[in-house]
Amino acid sequence: VHRRGLGKKLYIKTYGCQMNAYDSARMADILAPLGFSQTDDPAGADLAIVNTCHIREKATDKLFADLGRLRGHQAAKAAAGGRMLLAVAGCVAQAEGAEVRRRAPFVDVVMGPQAYHRLPEFLARAVRDGGGVLETDFAVDEKFDALPAPAAGQFSANLTVQEGCDKFCTFCVVPYTRGAEYSRPVAGVLAEAGRLAQGGASEIVVLGQNVNAYHGAGPDGESWSLGRLLGALAAIDGVRRLRYMTSHPLEVDDDLARAHRDVAELMPFVHLPAQSGSDRILAAMNRRYGVAQYRRAVDRLRAARPDLAVSSDFIVGFPGETETDFAATLDLARTVGFAQAYAFKYSPRPGTPAAAMAGQVPEPVKARRLAELLAVVAEQQLAFNRAFEGRDVPVLLDRAGRRPGQLHGRSPHMQAVHVAAAPAMLGRTVAVRVERALSNSLAGRLAEPVSARRGAAVRASAADSGAIL
Ligand code: SAH
Ligand code: SF4
Ligand code: F3S
Repeated sequence: VHRRGLGKKLYIKTYGCQMNAYDSARMADILAPLGFSQTDDPAGADLAIVNTCHIREKATDKLFADLGRLRGHQAAKAAAGGRMLLAVAGCVAQAEGAEVRRRAPFVDVVMGPQAYHRLPEFLARAVRDGGGVLETDFAVDEKFDALPAPAAGQFSANLTVQEGCDKFCTFCVVPYTRGAEYSRPVAGVLAEAGRLAQGGASEIVVLGQNVNAYHGAGPDGESWSLGRLLGALAAIDGVRRLRYMTSHPLEVDDDLARAHRDVAELMPFVHLPAQSGSDRILAAMNRRYGVAQYRRAVDRLRAARPDLAVSSDFIVGFPGETETDFAATLDLARTVGFAQAYAFKYSPRPGTPAAAMAGQVPEPVKARRLAELLAVVAEQQLAFNRAFEGRDVPVLLDRAGRRPGQLHGRSPHMQAVHVAAAPAMLGRTVAVRVERALSNSLAGRLAEPVSARRGAAVRASAADSGAIL
């Protein structure tokens, strides 16, 4: 699919999880045949899309700030005799579409995450009727059937295999914004992965709100687990690295453990959010597991893959959380040995049970607990990363680094790695000698002179397609 064409400019701003990133990329793919090419600059764009997240209050606030700015660009374009269409997509559109229409009537299209395949139709309607399109249906299977093939040129590509959630944790909006749990059939997933690999992606990140609840219909008529799907993805030509996220601790099964043991392409990393270290709070959250069960899930995966890096999300200040509950969370964070963890202050979300619970925790208490937990997490991350100092790690160079002359890549354990390397090396997996560990990244240098290794790689055969490791 061409990204040039009739020269219309498309600006997309994406918030939220990687599934939103995946959706934004698919929207760009749908619009490419209509002549839209993507730009980083909203000024003068013919279409601006804000792909929104509703998970915490802050995420929602950003939408209205953005819309204020985009309205200025829209007015400037109109003054110059042109037209900028404005669309709001994603989870805020789904949850609060009518509110978006009311607060920002200059928005032309409001559409939920299940409606993207109909984007061209919505735009035509908006042009014809002068805006006013609101679409928040749940027709998730249609969405994946109708989305076009992904554009080539990514080294690490997202691939959504599962959407929605039936777990209804009491703090969370996802079951309301993304709808019921849905698994894409295996054949469509494998076909898309094949196209991604052909387009240059050597790493595929398999996505789902609850990706290990995956149970897609297989070509054999059976329902496939995530573990089984990962095995089939690994067999695709050109796929060298596989990751998956986000997993639910309750759904760690034998197939997944087996995949970590047997599938060499599956990277030794799992994002397994614990949310809290207190059984009382976990019960109030409706997480349906206790701390002991969480630890068992981690142990089970580590038994299959001893060097597994484990990552988590935590919420502090959930309604009713006492100092004792919080101390239990700190204890869990200290003892599991997390390679990474994210922590958030509980944010009451409209319509969720926890928002109406007694014992809402005051903001200053949340802020203090967050700071304490983040300090523990930073210590854990630094300790995990320090163990790599002096070692050579295989790094997939996936994008430009922060500084000129630098590239960014990922280790098997998902660590961000910065290394001085030429732009021509993008997309390769190279050995990096780790020189310095920080709490959020590693810095190093190419382990051997590139010229010497390049010769070796050429000799190693075409199957290695230029990769150094
Ligand atoms: N499906 C994943 C989580 C998806 S949401 C799971 O079950 O673990 C991503 C993260 O946002 C969650 O893990 C949680 O830590 C955080 N989060 C969700 N709702 C929140 C809220 N109301 N306030 C604060 N953090 C929240
Ligand atoms: Fe939200 Fe819970 Fe579903 Fe995760 S499992 S998406 S936190 S409801
Ligand atoms: Fe946000 Fe929706 Fe993802 S609420 S985290 S964009 S599923």
